[in-house]
Parts: sequence; structure tokens; C-alpha cells
Amino acid sequence: MMKDIDFKGKKALVRVDFNVPLDEEGNITDDTRIRAALPTIRHILDQGGAVILLSHLGRPQKKRKADGSIDVERFTLRHIVGHLSELLGREVQFCPEPVGEQARRMATALQPGEVLLLENTRFEPGEEKGDEALARQWAELADVYVNDAFGTAHRAHASTATVAKFFPKGAKTMGFLMQAEVENANKVLHSPERPLTAIVGGAKVSDKILLLERLLDFVDNLLIGGGMAYTFIKSQGGQVGNSLVEEDRLELARQLLAKAEEKGVRMLLPLDSVIADRFAADAQTKVAPSDAIPDGWMGLDIGPDAIAAFSAVIMDSKTILWNGPMGVFEMEPFAKGTKAIAEAVARATGQGAFSLVGGGDSVAAVTRMGLADKVSFVSTGGGAMLEFLEGKTLPGIAALQD
Ligand code: 3PG
Repeated sequence: MMKDIDFKGKKALVRVDFNVPLDEEGNITDDTRIRAALPTIRHILDQGGAVILLSHLGRPQKKRKADGSIDVERFTLRHIVGHLSELLGREVQFCPEPVGEQARRMATALQPGEVLLLENTRFEPGEEKGDEALARQWAELADVYVNDAFGTAHRAHASTATVAKFFPKGAKTMGFLMQAEVENANKVLHSPERPLTAIVGGAKVSDKILLLERLLDFVDNLLIGGGMAYTFIKSQGGQVGNSLVEEDRLELARQLLAKAEEKGVRMLLPLDSVIADRFAADAQTKVAPSDAIPDGWMGLDIGPDAIAAFSAVIMDSKTILWNGPMGVFEMEPFAKGTKAIAEAVARATGQGAFSLVGGGDSVAAVTRMGLADKVSFVSTGGGAMLEFLEGKTLPGIAALQD
């Protein structure tokens, strides 16, 4: 734990997840993940320690330039330095390489109260392979290792997992953000006040199979929205027109519905849908029962009756977990369902429920609507939170315990 470590006069290697969205000019468009790491960084500095930050940004190995080189311009962490310095109220030093002679020199010269950000860890081919020699080089820069990169905790990479083995017990810990993520998710998984409602959306059932199976073991209510709802509806004999359907998951959908019944879980599919004649923001739209969508039309959002039914369940809940949007909320005509659910979750929270929003798109929706501070906890993890909720051991967390 952070509070058990005395950082005074020590150098802390802190793995953060500064994988934030950038616009064409490299400006940060959402700094949530950077802000979320500040308490850990500040704590170390306030205690008289120095901070060496490691992070990845994007997937530079997969997006190499035509000549095979790394696209440094696009993926450099230099984009982050100015904003991070502003947020911390002190100048952040930047090393233009992730490891090597310059990184060593700058780390050695680092004084208590100073912050050094090393270049994108994924510029090193060994990072994603969990390379030991690379991890050792990072470990040699510091006395203590702190992993606060919850968003990347599901990756067994050199800077998120391997590096921890070069620090003895008592010299490695989760940061405050990682700890909060784990505690909040555990609250839902292991000690929820009931009724417990999970809201799951997103395009595909196949992305959420493990999550749905696990949720059916312990939730009271399961609300299904987004494109995945139509695979369930078709599996029950409904007509879904041209809606997104995973034909190879129909049997699985039937099994999940049967499991819900067997376990006494109230599993709600959207009664009605906003349907469109094209997948486009300017398509013709109307509302139809979700199991009677005409050919040539597709369901792109939950309809008003579904909103009313889902909201009523949410308002009656004491614990709420939300993962995945209810419709194609990036397009205005299909954003109503996701907005209404976000509002219901915020209202239920206001009357005392505990709510956790996890998973990239639902987080983006809640943030965009300005409701992030009206829910109990917004996770910074997309894939990581999904895997945590599925019950998987995350390598970034496990490595700290070895
Ligand atoms: C994320 O944005 O989900 C994390 O930063 C992990 O990124 P990755 O999916 O490229 O490993």
C-alpha cells in the first residue's frame, strides 16, 4: 500500500496510464486519466521523493510509418509534458528516450520533488513482450515501483508487470488510483447492497460473453441495450430487420437467457427501439417494438418504453454497474437512450445508490454529458475493468504481490 512506503529521499518509478485521446495537432482532448494519476504523484513529491514516470501512448509498434520506423511525432509523450506540468504546478522534465544512457543520466540527476517523464514505453519492442532485460533497465533507475496504470493492468508488459519482479516486497505497491479502482470494483463484485443491477450495452454479445456469464451468478437485474440486444431478441424468435445480429451467437444468447431464468435474475431486453433506414445520422427514424423491426430497418437505440422500464429498475437499485452504451450515441438521433440511462444512474446515485461506470464508451458518454461527478465511481479502465469484472487476474496487479 502507498501509505506503508516512506518515499523520503527515494526515487519512485511510477507506471501511469497516460494513454489519452489526442486531436490531429496532438492536443489532449480528455485528460481524465492524467488527473486521476495526480494524487499518487503528489503524495510521493510531498513526502520528499522524486518521480520517474513511465507510460505508453497508443500502439506505435502496430502503426509504424511506411518506411517501417516508429511514428515519433504522433506517439511521443512530449504531447503530455506541458499539461502535466501545469496540473502539477511544477516543471516536468522529459527524456526523449524510454531507456538508455540519457534516461539513466536524467534519472540519476533527479532531485527530491522533481518529476521526470520518459518517452513512450511502447517505442521499445521489448515492452509488449514483457522483456526482462528492458524491465531490469527501468528497475535500475529507482528504489521503489508504483503501478498506478489501472487502464493497462490487463497487459503483461515489461513496464506494467515484469519490472515489479526486480523490486523486493515492501518496495512495490499499487498507486492510489489503482487501489480505488480495485476497491470500487470489489464493492460491486463482493459486497453489493441489493438490489444490484448491471446495465450492459455495446455492439456485440461476443465481446461481453464472459462478463454476462459472470454477472448472471450474482446480479439481481440485468439490463441489456446496444447492438447486442438484437442477437438476444432474434434468439427468442423476434424480427429484428437489418439490425446487427451475431448469427453464430444465437445459441449462446438462448443459453444466457435460460441461465438468467434458472438463477432468478431479472434480465430485461429493450421493449422498443429507435430504428433507422440507414446507419447514418441523417437516416429516417421511427420507434418500433424491438421484436417487430421491418426489413430494411435497424435498431440503433433503445426506445421510450425501454427507457422507462430500465429507468424504473435503476431507480429501485442500491448498487449499479454500467458497461457499454445503449445505442449509437455518437450520432445525435441515437443518443437519447444512453443519455436517459446516464441520467437515471445519476439520479439513483443522488438518492443513495452506489454506481460504478466502467468500460470506454459508457465512460465517454457519462463524461460528455457532464455527469461524471454524479455517479459514485468512473473507471479509467476499458479492457482492464472488463477483465477485472470477468474475474480474471490482472497481470499488473498480480505482479505486485509476487
Ligand atoms: C487502454 O486505453 O485501454 C489502455 O491504455 C490499454 O491500451 P491497449 O489496449 O493499447 O493495451
